[in-house]
Amino acid sequence: MLESMRVKGAQQQRKYTTFIMDPLLYPSIIKQGRQLDFHEFTSKVAPLTFGYPPVLSSTFPGLWEQIKRSFQLLQGDHLVPLTDSMMVNLMLVFRQDHLDRDGDWRRGSLYEFCSSVMFEATFLTIYGKPATGSRHRGMDNMRKDFNEFDNMFPFLIAQIPIWLLGGTKAIRQKLISYFLPQQMSRWSNTSQFIQRRSELFDQHDKLKDVDKAAHHFAILWASVGNTLPATFWATYFLVSQPEALKMVRQEIVDVLRDSGIMFSTDKDVMLSKEQLDKLIFLESSINESLRLSSASMNIRVAQEDFSLRLDNDRSVGVRKGDIVALYPQSLHLDPEIYEDPQTFRFDRFVQDDREKTDFSKNGQKLRYYLMPFGSGSSMCPGRYFAINEIKQFICLLLLYFDLQLDDAQNRPNLDSRRAGLGILMPSLDVRFCYRLRAV
Ligand code: HEM
Repeated sequence: MLESMRVKGAQQQRKYTTFIMDPLLYPSIIKQGRQLDFHEFTSKVAPLTFGYPPVLSSTFPGLWEQIKRSFQLLQGDHLVPLTDSMMVNLMLVFRQDHLDRDGDWRRGSLYEFCSSVMFEATFLTIYGKPATGSRHRGMDNMRKDFNEFDNMFPFLIAQIPIWLLGGTKAIRQKLISYFLPQQMSRWSNTSQFIQRRSELFDQHDKLKDVDKAAHHFAILWASVGNTLPATFWATYFLVSQPEALKMVRQEIVDVLRDSGIMFSTDKDVMLSKEQLDKLIFLESSINESLRLSSASMNIRVAQEDFSLRLDNDRSVGVRKGDIVALYPQSLHLDPEIYEDPQTFRFDRFVQDDREKTDFSKNGQKLRYYLMPFGSGSSMCPGRYFAINEIKQFICLLLLYFDLQLDDAQNRPNLDSRRAGLGILMPSLDVRFCYRLRAV
């Protein structure tokens, strides 16, 4: 039986979406880069969502390729300075906001805690520091505006005109205005990634200042829109399982000790990229929480009429303009691939003290078994930085604090409003207590 489903779209356009439900068929789709293109979708939707003019146009020759090339500055060797800078910024925010107290228990809301720290530290790492002082003023207000914009994000992606969405346009203008060139030029310690993008925007005379700022704002969404909920889920699952938390904390202490560092809460700690790479149980915990919370859809648009070969026996006719979609959440929660799929098992991605990569369906090894970051040519360029920064946040949290969830709280549901778009938020925040550890 062909495990695909055809859904008739708008009558007049007669477009169809084919959902590929069998993960064993994913490789045939992902490798069809030429005929099944991802960029046609994003190049139309992203400008409307973030408010910049279409990039793929003769007005801005070469801009699309330049933007793509800038993504390399989030990866490889460039990850080392980014990771070091993130560590300094996380430590700064932790020290000034949370480590200035005595050892009494304090109460908080976990999503709010994770997102306030991660939003600010990521912002400082990517965009840099203000001209005076080490932290930007008004970060809480900016995050509030960001959350309001983010609530409307699914509607914008669905191409609902922004003027139908209440005050969203004004909020977007406000957010964009933080990134106007005259403002950003005063910031220091800006990442190479953003510096390069500013330089290449300056090469295009037809790009107005407000357009450049809108591009920078789009990167703000890309860099925190998924990372904040992902950080929450990874932290929540660990704190909700004290045994897992204990193991992961011990792993962090051991990696530090192996480098000759005896941790104590009165000192700042730095973990290098190399040390973070050794934290396999922490990485497994993060992957497991991504498995449980991610609901991104991978969309490809057919560039021509063609017969999509699924395997040796099967093919399906696809017409120019039709959409082929992968929805990996169904793979992430498939009990044949992941036993007891709704349960968080912090060590699910570890085998024989190494990362486990061996997952199967119908007795066949899966090439794609965990896809929170998309696939193929459209795969998230920030994925390594994202995993690293979540690791860094959790390291600091576990090293400096004892943590407990308040009693009588169920695991929050996934809020499905962002289904198809990335990591889902919790339907409710979670109350918790934390206090400085006595070490
Ligand atoms: C694109 C997920 C963090 C930068 C994407 C896509 C996904 C994704 C699913 C679209 C891929 C596709 O449709 O195939 C995530 C998740 C993150 C995360 C789950 C955190 C847990 C980040 C961070 C950055 C970033 C931290 C930058 C610092 C981008 C950019 C794109 C993108 C620039 C667009 C790529 C393009 O246009 O080709 N991300 N992302 N992401 N992500 Fe991420």
